Amino acid sequence: MSDTKNHVKRNFLRPETIAAHTLKAIDEATGSITPPIYTSSTYARDQSYTPRLKENYIRNGNPTLWHAEQAVAALEQGEETLLFASGMAAITTLLETVPVGAHVAAPDVMYYGTRDWLKRLEAKGRIELTILNPTYPARIAAAIRKGKTDLVWIETPLNPTWDVIDIEHTAKLAHDAGAILAVDATASAAVTTQPLLLGADIVFHSATKYLNGHSDVLAGALVTGNVNARWQEMASLRTKIGAPLAPFECWLLIRGLRTLFVRYRQASANAIILARHFEKHPKIDRVLYPGLASHKGHDIARRQMTDGFGGMLSLLIKGSAADAVRVCTRLRVIIPATSLGGVESLAEHRKTVEGSESPVPDNLIRLSVGIEHVDDLMADIEQALG
Ligand SMILES: Cc1ncc(COP(=O)(O)O)c(C=O)c1O
Repeated sequence: MSDTKNHVKRNFLRPETIAAHTLKAIDEATGSITPPIYTSSTYARDQSYTPRLKENYIRNGNPTLWHAEQAVAALEQGEETLLFASGMAAITTLLETVPVGAHVAAPDVMYYGTRDWLKRLEAKGRIELTILNPTYPARIAAAIRKGKTDLVWIETPLNPTWDVIDIEHTAKLAHDAGAILAVDATASAAVTTQPLLLGADIVFHSATKYLNGHSDVLAGALVTGNVNARWQEMASLRTKIGAPLAPFECWLLIRGLRTLFVRYRQASANAIILARHFEKHPKIDRVLYPGLASHKGHDIARRQMTDGFGGMLSLLIKGSAADAVRVCTRLRVIIPATSLGGVESLAEHRKTVEGSESPVPDNLIRLSVGIEHVDDLMADIEQALG
């Protein structure tokens, strides 16, 4: 029997198929092949006063939310997903479950919103925090305190240096000390990396980015491979705080997920061409992209990013912060805007966004490479460099 027949027989579809059908949402009543949007904020009980659904109130859950959550869980090969009204709502909910006084280890270069929130918790005396350079595994090992560290937080690739952190190794270090590992995998969608299969306890996505992919939704996702008491605390907190993703956004996310694989692969294909080209450009000092042999995370990336290195890369231009800003203003195709993971390419001077305290180099331009024709993107950057 062929491999394909085996997959069908075991009812195990490949992730591309799961994404394209987003769990085969054919509506029984009408045959609609896209799911309805359940906008109702409340659900009526039946004649015997029994609730029809497992939840009756929109803040606790609703059918459109569950559909989107099951689709994301299937792609990550997780047991459950919780979708939130933003990535930051998901992150802060997870951090709320860290016991008071416990220790957290996190990277020095990372999404600045997460770093700011961790520092806020430390300043309030809620947690002990070690910020470390995770590109040196020995520093992760040295930071983790057996019996004291509750959470190891990593991001891979790291924003905006795109260093790749070894999930399997970090999970082992965390587990040996009794901690959990949470991975911000926003820049490496399930297309290319599945952190749960590598030992992570929780995967986080700013679903605003690749999962939705059309720059029109704010959303966050937590996925677990193990529904335990801590996970249930996160679910309960989401309800109490009132942070589930709203039905229309869930529906847009379901629609976006259908093209996740083709979008991510095209962005990866464009990005590697641009990275190789600009690496040799006389006006560029360095290109940071995990797909380049010159990148310090390349060896791990080759093992861990099994289907493309993604669309995120940074150009370190020869020049000052003002020169980098000028390049951004000269772009005509690539849009000078923050965010990432959409079908359209975006560029930003990261230091301007993160502020003067940020460790990001002054001359760094972050590119989120989209799915346009790569020649148009290349010509645009060439003319902007002048
Ligand atoms: C890597 C990463 N993590 C977390 C976030 C926060 O997500 P959101 O903007 O959806 O709240 C972002 C947003 O830019 C991000 O890029």
